[in-house]
Amino acid sequence: MNEFNNEQKNAILDEILLKRRTHRRFREEIPPDNLIGEIILAGLHAPFAAAAVGNEKEYFRRFFVLRNNSETMTLVKPLAFGEVLRKSAELDHDSEKSEQLRIQATGFMNRLAMIKKMGFVPGIGTAPFFIVIAEKKGFPPVEQESLAHCLENMWLKATSLGLGFQLVSITAQMADNEEFCRILGLLPGKWGFMGCAIGYPGEKLPNSIRPSVNDVTTWMR
Ligand SMILES: Cc1cc2nc3c(=O)[nH]c(=O)nc-3n(C[C@H](O)[C@H](O)[C@H](O)COP(=O)(O)O)c2cc1C
Repeated sequence: MNEFNNEQKNAILDEILLKRRTHRRFREEIPPDNLIGEIILAGLHAPFAAAAVGNEKEYFRRFFVLRNNSETMTLVKPLAFGEVLRKSAELDHDSEKSEQLRIQATGFMNRLAMIKKMGFVPGIGTAPFFIVIAEKKGFPPVEQESLAHCLENMWLKATSLGLGFQLVSITAQMADNEEFCRILGLLPGKWGFMGCAIGYPGEKLPNSIRPSVNDVTTWMR
């Protein structure tokens, strides 16, 4: 194992933080399985809500690797698209009755409308790998927060390996989908989900750009 001093570690971490971007185009070339394993290991090392998941025997975090054009992917693609149609119809219906919801949900509804128009869910079947991460629901229900930590670790690891990474947040809506849960072998409603697409980047993206620290920070007295 290489021993880096703090200055070197800091410089490498800063480089990875800036290089971490959302990739939405992937090359067809398939990354080797061992790299996907390394990314999953990074996800396992993320923090988890120990008090919320308690001492259950069954491990609370699971990873499901779906390869593009595989049997499972063929089953999952229409299920995810169906979930988009269902969610979109539900929001259209509910927002007719609530002005506040209509205003709040505009961005999300536009995104669902765009996916409907495209006819597929970006990230599911558009990269060599689609990975579903499941986290047991505990008390308090913080599985999505916990998953966010896991996915960020995976994202940074993918970046350091030169791989492109895309969050596929519609996966979270599949938690109660009986057919999807049956395919994964998990009980519906008992797990929270998040998903990501991974592959070699289809384009080179510039480093992440954000406001300056001073613009968004108030040092309290
Ligand atoms: C909770 C959450 C959900 C997201 N869901 C998606 C998604 O489903 N598809 C996608 O392409 N990007 C998704 N993103 C990525 C954001 O759009 C992206 O991080 C943001 O535009 C900033 O771009 P950057 O990641 O390249 O810095 C999501 C990000 C977050 C934090």
